[in-house]
Amino acid sequence: MKAVRIHKPEGLEGIEGLVYEDAPDPQPAIGDALVQVRAASFTPTELTWPLQTDRAGHDRGPRIPAHEGSGVVVELGYGSAGVSVGDEVYGLIDGYRDGWAAEYVAIEARSLAPKPTTVDFVEAAAIPQAGLTSWQALFDHGHLESDQTVVIHGAGGGVGSIGVELARGAGAHVIGTGRAGARERVLELGADDFVDLEQGGWETAVGQVDLVYDAIGGDVLARSAAIVKPGGALVTIMAPLQTERDDIRVVHFVRDPSGAQLRDITRLVDQGKLRPQVGAVYSLTDAREAFMAKSTQHIPGKVVLTP
Ligand SMILES: NC(=O)c1ccc[n+]([C@@H]2O[C@H](COP(=O)([O-])OP(=O)(O)OC[C@H]3O[C@@H](n4cnc5c(N)ncnc54)[C@H](OP(=O)(O)O)[C@@H]3O)[C@@H](O)[C@H]2O)c1
Repeated sequence: MKAVRIHKPEGLEGIEGLVYEDAPDPQPAIGDALVQVRAASFTPTELTWPLQTDRAGHDRGPRIPAHEGSGVVVELGYGSAGVSVGDEVYGLIDGYRDGWAAEYVAIEARSLAPKPTTVDFVEAAAIPQAGLTSWQALFDHGHLESDQTVVIHGAGGGVGSIGVELARGAGAHVIGTGRAGARERVLELGADDFVDLEQGGWETAVGQVDLVYDAIGGDVLARSAAIVKPGGALVTIMAPLQTERDDIRVVHFVRDPSGAQLRDITRLVDQGKLRPQVGAVYSLTDAREAFMAKSTQHIPGKVVLTP
């Protein structure tokens, strides 16, 4: 099959290392489904994530990026349940396996869910990573409740924009943050307020909150412990945070593929409560340009690749 592979990350965010080339056809193992890919999406920094080995520590050689996508099931591995040949599906793959930037992907069937019927394959591909990361951040780790206030750092990005919609849908008071250019979009997504992080004193503008959900990291993360109410939580998907505060919960986590949670997300999409945010679409042959554009051009939401 044709696929995009990374042999060695080079240049900005490893992007120069991407090559569109022939790759072995994936074989569905026990519990897998083989999916013909219709659309794939990625996270701008994923080429530099430490995923060069499989879970047993063996070097994976050239690997296929894009951990999320949508397509049609064409074959099942031994014992695979929950999906059938011909099903339109989408999902997030375990990052230690080859991803969706290819004509076919072999993925654990339990990581898949039916594609929402109200969106096309391109829009569906933009949902799994951002949807599952934000679901797990807000509800599994953040324990967000309807009468609480949450601030979402990076609210105009791929992950943050779905976070805004999920938090608003849960009835929370939502403050989105980012650069000034994201304000209008974030408010359109349903945030109650927007704070420009490039303005001095943003902590004062945000005030005290029950939950910080951070998708930016660095200085923004470091300064965020101070804005959490006693008993509240700071959940980051960026890096572990050391803080002297012992009256708040601090959680750093990496999202898990989950077909079960993705089914809940499918329902929200089909009820019109969650709109996928697709900022641009590129052909798989132009994957290098797509990664570069997402990393350098402030494209809102997700960038999607189509084989
Ligand atoms: N732990 C996990 O499981 C997990 C899962 C998914 C993603 N992630 C991480 O989450 C991060 C966000 O992913 P994404 O797909 O949402 O990326 P993205 O689409 O680029 O979103 C990031 C958002 O934050 C904004 N931003 C970044 N730095 C900023 C700053 N200093 N001040 C103000 N705004 C800033 C960006 O604005 P501009 O575009 O204008 O720069 C963009 O709107 C990535 O670093 C990714 O590695 C972690």
